[in-house]
Formats: sequence, structure tokens, C-alpha cells
Amino acid sequence: MAQLTLATDYDRRFLLDPYLDWTQREGIPVYEDFGIDILGVETARWDRFDARGAFIHAKGRGDFCATFALELTPGGRTSPQRHLFEEVVYVLEGHGSTTIEGPDGRKHSFEWGPKSLFALPLNTRYQHFNGSGRERALLASTHDLPAVMNLFHNERFIFDNDFAFDERMGPDKHMGGDGDFTSIRPGSHLWETNFVPDLTDFGLKAWEARGAGSSNIAFVLADGTMHTHMSEIPTGRYKKGHRHGDGMHVFAVTGTGYSLFWNDDEQDYHSVPWRHGVMYAPPHLTFHQHFNTAPEPARYIAVGIGSRRYPFIRMRREAVLGSEVNIREGGMQVDYADQDPRIHAIWLEEMKKTGVPSDMGRYIDETDVTKS
Ligand SMILES: [Fe+2]
Repeated sequence: MAQLTLATDYDRRFLLDPYLDWTQREGIPVYEDFGIDILGVETARWDRFDARGAFIHAKGRGDFCATFALELTPGGRTSPQRHLFEEVVYVLEGHGSTTIEGPDGRKHSFEWGPKSLFALPLNTRYQHFNGSGRERALLASTHDLPAVMNLFHNERFIFDNDFAFDERMGPDKHMGGDGDFTSIRPGSHLWETNFVPDLTDFGLKAWEARGAGSSNIAFVLADGTMHTHMSEIPTGRYKKGHRHGDGMHVFAVTGTGYSLFWNDDEQDYHSVPWRHGVMYAPPHLTFHQHFNTAPEPARYIAVGIGSRRYPFIRMRREAVLGSEVNIREGGMQVDYADQDPRIHAIWLEEMKKTGVPSDMGRYIDETDVTKS
């Protein structure tokens, strides 16, 4: 008797994944792992962009989003592009510019460098340019093509579509690196823009409830459905453990550290070290916790489906509304007082290695932990 497998069955057109099929046809490498150092990934010629690229598939990427790396060789530029999916671009390396042509025919250009963040408004024409004749530029694009391709499974509709989304362009200042702040509440304050020139000096807002001295901002980029937020962990500190749905692509921006992952039924913690270049996505409802071991504040961004403006899925809406509720009260967050003592013991060991003093003593009884 023939056995059914979960793999795509091409002959019978059964259990297809049009997005993954498309990635295969593009002819560039596809990397899949739990955490990936994108700076170290080998790219290959990508005809679509007249550049180089690789698909970067985090294991916890979920159903809606994925990432690709786009490499511009020294002096290189992409061919003009247009497509019916959203992209949030994080600049990993290099200096260059992007030109976006709005539905009204006006062109907007902005210059980016390492740790810039920008969005490509839906279905606008754009082109990336490497501003250096000597160094490559490496962009990490997180996009919702998996959702769009699996919904329409028609390449021509997605890449050759004239529909103009006028409302996605926003005011001109959003292309120039300025934006509009909307105060919501700690953890959900909004900065609406298309372009953040340098994530490392962007002013964040306090969000104490997620961790001692934590701060963050939620971006609304190009009136998009894709979400991005940035968080900072102070020196010598770590955030509270929490969990949520999959698909949040986390990119380390400044500092170094590690994140622990665990599920209810597991005895041990899975640890992923990070620094600029590393991306991972916490798997569905897996607990995770971020630890800064650097002698400086550590920043990271998280990119995925469901912006603060358009949460898109119920789980994203509920995650925002209930993100600070303790796990014992039906929420998603583990308060310091409730965490497994082993977590703080691991922290103290890691800090011993770096020589950076722990500044968690005022929140956790460290003498007690070291005895256990
Ligand atoms: Fe998280």
C-alpha cells in the first residue's frame, strides 16, 4: 500500500507549497536552520535581481514570512523591481541607496548604511544601488511572499501587476528618514516611516514590564501589514521569558548575547548565541528569553506578519493586548520571580566568561541562585 508523506507530491498535485517551489526555480541557494549568520552565507547569481542572493529560511519562520539575502557586488545595482508582496529590508553590510518610484511617477531616493532599516511600499518600482566601488553591500529582506505566493500561486500576478497602492507611499518625509510618533502605551508606541537611517541611535521608549530597564519602539513601515519592532536590553541585564506565535524574525543589531529556548515538556534549554548578522525565529509557542552579555546595551529587531496597525491574525492582536500578562494568569510572560533558578545560574556563568558584571541582583536574589 502506497504511503502518504508530507512532502510535495508533484505528480498528483497534492500538498503543494508554491512558495517553496518558486524558491527552487529561482536557482539560488536555500539555507534553513534554527539560527543563521547571514553575513557568512554563500550567495549565488540571482538573475531576477541581476545581483547575488540566497534564501534564508529560519526554522520558526511560520506560514507567512521568510527572508532572503541580497548581495550587491562593488559598484553593482539591482535591475528595477516591482512585486505584490511587502518587504522589510535590514542592511547588514555596505553603503548604498535605493530609489523608489511612487504611483504618481515621482522618484524618491535615500542613502543607507549598516544597520539601516527600510520598507519597499507595496508594488512600487524600486532599485538598489551599491554606493561603494570596493565593498559589497548585503541586505536582509524579510517579506510576506510565502503568504502571497501560496494564496495566488501565480508568478505573473505577483511580479507583473500594474495596480497602484497610492496610500502606501506616505508623506515625502517618510522616505527621507523622518517619521511620525504616536503614543499608545509602553511596549506599543509607534514610529511611522519608510526609512530608519541608523537603528543604533534611534530613540526608544521605556518598557519596564518586559524586563528590567527594557525599551522598545514598534515601527509602522509603508502602511504595511508586516511588523517590525526594536528592543534594547541594558548592559548587565536580561529580559523576561515569554512566548508567542511563530514567524517573528529576530535580527541582532548591537551588542552580543544569547537567547534561551524551551518548551514545557523539555528538561534542557536550547541556547543560541547572537551578534550582528545573526537571525533566528522563535518557533510556535516556544518560550524564549534574551540575555545581553556585552559591555554595552544590546539591540535587536523582530520582523514578521501582523503590524501594530494591521495585526492580520488573531494571535498577533492578542499577543499585543496580553503580552505583559503573567503565564500563571493565562498570559505569555514569565516574571523574574517565577523563572527556573537554572536560568539565572546559566546567566551568571555566561557573565563570568565575558567579565561584564551582572546588574540583575536588584531583581533576582543572586546569592540564593548561586547556592542552588
Ligand atoms: Fe519574543
